[in-house]
Amino acid sequence: MDVTTLPAWKSLARHRADIENTRITQLFEDEPGRSERLTLKGGGLTFDVSRNLASRDTFARLYELADAVDLADQRNALFRGDTVNESEARAALHMLLRTGEPAGHPAAPEVADTLARMETISQAVRDGSWKGSTGEPIRHVVHIGVGGSYLGPRMAAEALTYFRPDATTGRIADHYVANIDGHHIDRVLAGLRAAQTLVVVVSKTFTTLETRANAETARTWLQQQLPGADLSRHFIAVSTNLDAAGDFGVTADHTLPLWDFVGGRYSMWSAVGLPLAITHGFETFRRMLDGAAAMDHHFATAPHAGNLPLTAALLSVWYNCFFEAQSHAVIPYDHFLRLLPAHLQQLEMESLGKSVTQDGKPLAVTSGQILWGGEGSNGQHAFHQLLYQGNRFVPIDFILPLRARHALPGHHEWLVANCLGQAEALMQGLSADEVAANLAASGTDDTLAAARRPHMTHAGNRPSSIIALDSVTPESLGALVAFYEHKVFCQAAVWHINPFDQWGVEYGKQLSRRVFARIQQDPAADQQPVHQATEQLIDLYRKAQNPE
Ligand code: F6P
Repeated sequence: MDVTTLPAWKSLARHRADIENTRITQLFEDEPGRSERLTLKGGGLTFDVSRNLASRDTFARLYELADAVDLADQRNALFRGDTVNESEARAALHMLLRTGEPAGHPAAPEVADTLARMETISQAVRDGSWKGSTGEPIRHVVHIGVGGSYLGPRMAAEALTYFRPDATTGRIADHYVANIDGHHIDRVLAGLRAAQTLVVVVSKTFTTLETRANAETARTWLQQQLPGADLSRHFIAVSTNLDAAGDFGVTADHTLPLWDFVGGRYSMWSAVGLPLAITHGFETFRRMLDGAAAMDHHFATAPHAGNLPLTAALLSVWYNCFFEAQSHAVIPYDHFLRLLPAHLQQLEMESLGKSVTQDGKPLAVTSGQILWGGEGSNGQHAFHQLLYQGNRFVPIDFILPLRARHALPGHHEWLVANCLGQAEALMQGLSADEVAANLAASGTDDTLAAARRPHMTHAGNRPSSIIALDSVTPESLGALVAFYEHKVFCQAAVWHINPFDQWGVEYGKQLSRRVFARIQQDPAADQQPVHQATEQLIDLYRKAQNPE
């Protein structure tokens, strides 16, 4: 299905011309009650989309597009567990992990059992009854995984810093290792006491190069530090590939399953989150699932105009396809949410970075955008200049916790003021006349004022949405991530692409193996040719190993 052939799409294309000269601020004048009407609530979140370049008519046409692609039916198929991941012939049921629905799903008992095992393990490690090979309690959890086997739990562990029972005592410390860059695991292990260390190897396939390499290094380290010890109590594996985990040496009772119907970037709700349950307590993990379940229910039941993920997705389709937005910024005004953009990068870009439709036909539109971001208010001192006066069109999500978890006077008021101030400034802009008046009022002489005026004006009319949380809690974090998961699904549903596969990454892995064989000059290895440019740098690498 080529969405650009649909009348609803063509209607939006015509409408794009209509809105060319519209000012967002004018829309507030033209549409009494715009603020209230475009402040949506659902799943515990508040989503203010009033500062977007979308009139009442725009939203109406966008929701018509949703109907034109039978988005409600596609959503129902997703929740039913239909084969929505066509290229891998799989369902996508990350919702099952937090809602237990669809009821009666054949995997539901194993999902429930795995959650129970997570509770047992996390409580045993926390109460000290899980002991290492020398009888000492665990004080360090090393999570080894990459991509979806890392980003989600790493982000959540940081975001929920205030929900670590022993944040101040540091009684159980977590160390997340993902990169094959040996510098990281080298430093992590150097500081640890092996007898008190539990290594959790997380890999859906249990074949990922980075994870295998880091797990083997961790195993070697444990063997060296605890010679002759029974290492079984120092390893847990989380995988769909139970055989590979067993071959690696993890005992079956210390191996927790994953399922093919849960994509890596959608898996933080599974045993991938075990280290989080250990360091933050199982209840915190359970509450995060509950928050996501609340967003699942909202997404599955809310009508289009009040549906947070659907509305967010349609706005992204609007900007991506009709304003040629190249990127989308997510700016959390909360220090401990600063890793959220990295998680969302994989979620959005690995899901939507496609060029063919579900039925393998060339995609007629550009799908997905480059998602990036950084913590507010720091970004104001780093990249906001481009957002204000650059010639790029960058839609922004500001994420704003309304209540602080600290009691320090003044800080949160300033944080909120900065967030709202940016959103207003981006929308309002600053005209040449306003700049001239400001310069005159400050006594700047006319010559300097005339010279400075063009440098100080802001075009404005730059859209942003504000996602307000009451405060960062396990529930609101769960709802926020589920919001973005369903936003991704809705965008893919409009474009008729598969958001649940990632065939593209396999080719890069294949070339890496080819270059590795060349570097190793292993005669047994398949010495397939590499490009001359690559050969040149392999030579450079070789020379660097034996400096004169
Ligand atoms: O190569 C990309 C990818 O497959 C991601 O989709 C996944 O989250 C990551 O690698 C890790 O995969 P695994 O959990 O199988 O180690």
